[in-house]
Amino acid sequence: MQTIHDLSSATQYFHDLEEQYGAHNYHPLPVVLKKGEGVFLWDVDNKKYFDFLSGYSALNQGHCHPRLVHAMIEQTQTLTLTSRAFQTDQLGEYAKYITDYFGYDKVLPMNTGAEAVETALKLCRKWAYKVKGIEEDKAVIIVCENNFHGRTIAIVSFSSDPDAKKDFGPYTPGFVSIPYNDLPALEKALENKNVAGFLVEPIQGEAGVIVPDDGYLTKAKALCEAANVLFMADEIQSGLGRTGKMLACDHEHVKPDVLILGKALSGGMLPVSAVLANDAIMLTLKPGEHGSTYGGNPLACKVAMTALKILKDENLVAKAEELGEVFRSALSDIGSKHIAEIRGKGLLNAIIIQHENPNAAWDLCLEMKENGLLAKPTHGDRIRLAPPLVITKKQLLDGVAIIEKSLGSL
Ligand SMILES: Cc1ncc(COP(=O)(O)O)c(C=O)c1O
Repeated sequence: MQTIHDLSSATQYFHDLEEQYGAHNYHPLPVVLKKGEGVFLWDVDNKKYFDFLSGYSALNQGHCHPRLVHAMIEQTQTLTLTSRAFQTDQLGEYAKYITDYFGYDKVLPMNTGAEAVETALKLCRKWAYKVKGIEEDKAVIIVCENNFHGRTIAIVSFSSDPDAKKDFGPYTPGFVSIPYNDLPALEKALENKNVAGFLVEPIQGEAGVIVPDDGYLTKAKALCEAANVLFMADEIQSGLGRTGKMLACDHEHVKPDVLILGKALSGGMLPVSAVLANDAIMLTLKPGEHGSTYGGNPLACKVAMTALKILKDENLVAKAEELGEVFRSALSDIGSKHIAEIRGKGLLNAIIIQHENPNAAWDLCLEMKENGLLAKPTHGDRIRLAPPLVITKKQLLDGVAIIEKSLGSL
């Protein structure tokens, strides 16, 4: 098994630079990448890898998609940022495009995923006071245990992950956490008349690809509707084709009141996120009440439109659904005693590693790296496997062969 001490001199050099001058807020796999194309990455020693992480699902369209590169170059040479103090010829076109695409009245553009979640939370509180009539400062938002919605103070305030939360208090009040995939718990929490919203990942990605029971989203949406509570879906990781539908909520034909998107909205080019909602919700926000210097910048708008077009033009949603089946069945055919469970939808999947060595998942990722495939454990024994949606069946099965070979070393 490779250790950090066996790195090439080039890898060691870049590793040491990051270690010495960068904050230690990540624990990356010991690989230093310099190039990407489609489903492949190359390290500084020119070794080629399959990317089975896809930047946590930001790269659904694959690395450096030529149409996205073209859009970037063209718009970068034309106009990149004005701030929202002025209007541009891109934002209106983008707003029309994305609202038509997902069937909402309005979009609020932001940059990172966490900012979009924050935006949804603010929007929900505003709606609570202006429309629902909740007494000032009393609004409550229901969230789920083991959620991952980002890293801001408000968001980590309702995290159940001690790593994400501990020592970052005092925490933001106004959130109630219930178990995921638990309708009776939701029904009970909704008895509180001050509840304004329910924030949920349709599939919990960071928690290790937790897929709720069939019918959970439909029933949760119905419960929210009956209680006059906004159903807010964080589709930052699960959306944009990843799970074999355009949105993971589409598996149950559920239309969120507030839809939160990010990651693959730019296909890995730059941070682009968005919150979509209808007028009754979105127009509660007035000028000056929310915004971001970079939110809705013309470069982001152009890239996001192109990223969304690629999903349709290349039929990536149907491809994710079909290849997801192929993938899970090929993983199951490996028949490894070290795979306790294979779960997921479309191309958002995870394997759960069982082994007496508690670091087996990490060791397996190191071995897969040696054999030419990159993936990363989440929460100890879970390895998320989520290649770009542009992967071919042959490439996917080549990836499975690498996983199988690597499992042999455990
Ligand atoms: C479901 C979900 N929400 C929000 C985020 C936060 O996005 P960002 O890292 O762009 O702030 C993530 C990131 O992994 C996510 O998976």
